[in-house]
Amino acid sequence: MNNALEIKNLLFKWNNQDNFSLKIKNLSIKRNKKVIMFGESGSGKSTLLNLISGIMSPISGTIIIKDTITNNLSSNKKDAFRANNIGVIFQQLNLLDYISPINNILLPCFFTNFKKKNKNYFYNRAFNLASKLDLKKNILLQRNSSQLSLGQKQRVAIIRAVINKPFLIVADEPTSALDNRNKENFLNLLVNICETEKITLLMVSHDTSLKKYFDSNITLERIVKK
Ligand SMILES: Nc1ncnc2c1ncn2[C@@H]1O[C@H](COP(=O)(O)OP(=O)(O)OP(=O)(O)O)[C@@H](O)[C@H]1O
Ligand SMILES: [Mg+2]
Repeated sequence: MNNALEIKNLLFKWNNQDNFSLKIKNLSIKRNKKVIMFGESGSGKSTLLNLISGIMSPISGTIIIKDTITNNLSSNKKDAFRANNIGVIFQQLNLLDYISPINNILLPCFFTNFKKKNKNYFYNRAFNLASKLDLKKNILLQRNSSQLSLGQKQRVAIIRAVINKPFLIVADEPTSALDNRNKENFLNLLVNICETEKITLLMVSHDTSLKKYFDSNITLERIVKK
């Protein structure tokens, strides 16, 4: 397996409407590479990441992750495949407000191997990662997550994406609300985890100064078919 992700002849439309379509003939990302994707607002970056993580389905084409054609899986299998293999950082973060930050982080583990491994392993991993991002333990243990600042929410979201040691991480503009110091911490941590745990990374951003953290960059406009 050379490619972590391979997309062929992808076509997506919203409810078959003609106002927007995303057509990609070919996109592949090699294993263990870190790629940043740029593209104009509204060009379809978030849509593409949702197709890759299986939250949305294309009209036609194939999406292959870890040698599995994921867009053919039943919705249960898609959910299981995502929980086991893909760490997702959403543009809107999608944290549950009414549970604690630590439980938000541990959510993907509840769907997979939480029971198999020692619970403490995941708690310790979460607290460890948090301390590297300047997030104190008492913040993670707050009763709910609604009172976190946006920057704190972004850091909780990254920890949730990596807690399960996924095969692939897709991240949608995860640093847009961070100050420079936390942006640097965030990227160093993300890149470091991807390197040590052999995770392939596809991140979307508008911030071209982030290029230096990545092996390569692509522009969505360059890979879409007109
Ligand atoms: N639920 C929806 N129903 C119909 N059209 C939608 C929906 N969500 C997004 N779109 C349209 O799909 C297109 C792509 O949106 P998308 O969110 O993928 O863009 P983006 O590149 O992520 O933009 P940004 O950089 O602003 O986040 C846009 O034209 C948008 O208007
Ligand atoms: Mg977007």
